[in-house]
Amino acid sequence: MRQAHVPYSHFPVGAALRSESGAIFAGCNIENASYPEGWCAETSAIAHMVVAGERTIAEVAVVAEKMARITPCGGCRQRLKEFASPETRVHLCDADGIVETVTLGDLLPKAFALD
Ligand code: THU
Repeated sequence: MRQAHVPYSHFPVGAALRSESGAIFAGCNIENASYPEGWCAETSAIAHMVVAGERTIAEVAVVAEKMARITPCGGCRQRLKEFASPETRVHLCDADGIVETVTLGDLLPKAFALD
């Protein structure tokens, strides 16, 4: 979240994924002067995980300092689903830690999948 590039929204977000191997991949939101071209913290974290050669998310944490409890946006729920299961835990956090833990299945029921 400290690294977020948010000159437009001033709404920094941080995300961390723990992968199958136990490694942790962090991400922040990165905005753009052409607003729709910016992307979310969860998306940055997924990119870091995939570039490192990993494909399975074991656990997710998301935090935004301006919200008591942030939940991933719809697009990020679908992106997380690509590498996680309905049982994967998603920790909704504030500066002090976990506020609520839900599953990806809670956040994205009846998700689109090609299988
Ligand atoms: N944002 C995230 O990074 N993750 C979310 O799950 C929700 C929204 C970012 C996008 C944008 O940079 C800012 O928060 C305000 O919408």
